[in-house]
Amino acid sequence: MSTPSPIPAPARAAATEHCGRDLVLTEITDRRGSAVWKAAGHKGAAAVKVGRGDGVEITAREAAALAALNTDYFVGGGVTHGLAWLLTDWLEGPSTWEVFGPVRAGGVDREQAVAAAADLCAAVAGLHASGWVHADLQPSHGIHTDTGVQLIDLAWAWRPGWDQGIKFNGGLTHLLSPELAAAILTGDKPVAVTRAADVYALAGTIWTCATGRWPLDYQAAGISPKTCSPHELRQHIATGRVPVTADRPWPDLQNVLLPVLLDDPADRPTASELGKTLQAP
Ligand SMILES: Nc1ncnc2c1ncn2[C@@H]1O[C@H](COP(=O)(O)OP(=O)(O)O)[C@@H](O)[C@H]1O
Ligand SMILES: [Mg+2]
Repeated sequence: MSTPSPIPAPARAAATEHCGRDLVLTEITDRRGSAVWKAAGHKGAAAVKVGRGDGVEITAREAAALAALNTDYFVGGGVTHGLAWLLTDWLEGPSTWEVFGPVRAGGVDREQAVAAAADLCAAVAGLHASGWVHADLQPSHGIHTDTGVQLIDLAWAWRPGWDQGIKFNGGLTHLLSPELAAAILTGDKPVAVTRAADVYALAGTIWTCATGRWPLDYQAAGISPKTCSPHELRQHIATGRVPVTADRPWPDLQNVLLPVLLDDPADRPTASELGKTLQAP
């Protein structure tokens, strides 16, 4: 007997219709209740995301957010036989993390990386202008295509009034702003994710891409992130007393990002302002 496919039949049918015959599926990731495959056929390629268990509700909400946002790379989605799925055009291009790879390896051409960082800021500014926040910005969630940056993994994207679910914990903990960490800890839902919290994660994303390290120096604060639970890490972050790493491999860029990571939310720039400052000579 053959092993049942982890991709539900309607998702496979939608992928075949979109990508064409001779569909080849390649697994990209499988973690925390959802898996992503690249589907490629004679007409083109798509990403198939399938949520199971806890991931059902989260993947279904991502599909709903993509539809509500009118995202041009969204193809379709559904829930069937206890699985949620969504289909998106395959976005061709490197992630922000990948764009910065040569810089982290010691390359001297930093101009291209700064331009990519500004493109990422512009994409976030566009999302904010539509009244939404991403709520889980991270180095792999911006894809730099020929026509601009597309933000992916909109599972936690939110606007006031949108069903956030009860599982939202602030997105990637290492890029969680102190005020959002504090809001998560209260346990009250929905957690009002602000543009300022997104801008903190945006600056932290660029910092991480540029330095290869998360912005906060847990060791200096006597914290071991490997033995700490995410809840304990949030408690530390919420104090606002975990220092930013002292490494300055790229002082010009880091000096723009540092105040964003340290200042009060009200004093943070907008995503658009941050992009412009990064590109200022
Ligand atoms: N539309 C897409 N185009 C290209 N790559 C994608 C697309 N969607 C997802 N991916 C790839 O799959 C990875 C995981 O997707 P993501 O939505 O972040 O899932 P997870 O919830 O597991 O973090 C991404 O980092 C990216 O490499
Ligand atoms: Mg992701």
